[in-house]
Amino acid sequence: MWIVVFLVLAVVVVGWWTVYAYREAKRVHIEHLTLYTRDIRTPISIMHLSDLHLFREMSRSRLRRIGEVIKEQLSQTEVDFIFLTGDLIDKNSGIEVLRDEILPLLKAKGGVYAVLGNHDYFEYNVLHVFSPLFFLHEKKSTDVERLLDVLKKGGVRVLRNEMLSFSYHGNNLTLIGVDNFLQGRYSWPDLAIPDDESYKMVLAHFPDVIHHIKGRVDVVFSGHTHGGQITVWGYPLTAKAKIRRREARGASVHDNTVLYVSKGVGVSHYLPLRFFAHPDVTMVRIEVADEKK
Ligand SMILES: [Fe+2]
Repeated sequence: MWIVVFLVLAVVVVGWWTVYAYREAKRVHIEHLTLYTRDIRTPISIMHLSDLHLFREMSRSRLRRIGEVIKEQLSQTEVDFIFLTGDLIDKNSGIEVLRDEILPLLKAKGGVYAVLGNHDYFEYNVLHVFSPLFFLHEKKSTDVERLLDVLKKGGVRVLRNEMLSFSYHGNNLTLIGVDNFLQGRYSWPDLAIPDDESYKMVLAHFPDVIHHIKGRVDVVFSGHTHGGQITVWGYPLTAKAKIRRREARGASVHDNTVLYVSKGVGVSHYLPLRFFAHPDVTMVRIEVADEKK
């Protein structure tokens, strides 16, 4: 008798949890990040999007919500830049979703810049979650050339281990995009960071790059972790990267370099659940620091 009661209760709890976690994965929130620096003369506003995980069969309501949040935020704030930090697609079919539903929304005065993530190179399935057990289960490559073509035609500049130095509204900026899969996941590309007064920003899907460039750039924008995705009331069970678990979401400081890890906008098709790690779009404001402070 007690076993039956226990089983019924277990089914109810697991069922409730699954419904809750499925619905949380659709509730895109807006995060705000403000940074201060003496290296710029005029403020900069940025929209940071990560881990969209687009594919054709994805939940229409989730896709609609992503589009609504992007449109709403960009109508309120004319941003200078939009940064995309990888995992734009979850399967090849996401390339068309990106082209038709997302790229037309992305408007920024100074341009849209992107780096690629692991899901932009490979289509994963649930077996890959247990990769040590299924190491022989080959991952299928995506059509990365088509993805790059769509991004280019959609006005997105993809930085694949590239560094740009430019002047924008009186600010000298250095923008570095790290493509971990071209270089090896935990390494730093062969790019010499200039030793000048420019404000230096890095885009990298994997937050691990922080160990290679901390103290030498101002800020690193990354993703990949999904904020832990399934957490213990906000505390990630795993960081999915060589960083501390509490650094797997939001901002942390490493030798004067800010690492900002977005929880991402989407989820993988094989695990469309989030628990206390709601999806986010981050609005960043870089302000001119007060000389007196
Ligand atoms: Fe991801």
